[in-house]
Amino acid sequence: MPPERTLVLLKPDALQRHLVGRVIARLEGKGLHLVAAKLIKMSADQARRHYWEHREKPFFSDLVSFITSSSVLAMVWEGRGAVTVVRKLVGETDPCQAAPGTIRGDWALSVLNNLVHAADSPQAAEREIANFFAPEEILSQCR
Ligand code: RTP
Ligand code: MG
Repeated sequence: MPPERTLVLLKPDALQRHLVGRVIARLEGKGLHLVAAKLIKMSADQARRHYWEHREKPFFSDLVSFITSSSVLAMVWEGRGAVTVVRKLVGETDPCQAAPGTIRGDWALSVLNNLVHAADSPQAAEREIANFFAPEEILSQCR
């Protein structure tokens, strides 16, 4: 697997529940490199862009309201197979289905309040990273 970058968002519930350190520790422990990070309050436009693929879904407005409700930690992580590796560490969308040992499996119960967003393909990662970071804000180790 080639070195990749992926976008990770720690959603408002992760910050409110003081899980930031523990989530980051899992990604660092796996050997991934943190190459950009920014604490933000997402605008509605930025949130709609981020979740545009879900615009027709019944939960879209709840999702945008939730992700814009308070602070989010946006990060770029880099490493071999980073997109797939992070999705595995995060676990299934519905925390009830997420395996123990995954972030959602260990610390979440609600589908909406599921702590973390992680890009689901290298193409999505590239598009999503550009929604939050300028190229010069990413201190890449592999380019
Ligand atoms: P994410 O994009 O946040 O990393 O989550 P994901 O890939 O595991 O799930 P996705 O299908 O992309 O859904 C995006 C977020 O929408 C909320 N959701 N609610 N009520 C529902 O049935 C439902 N389904 C999805 C979740 O917060 C999910 O993370
Ligand atoms: Mg998704």
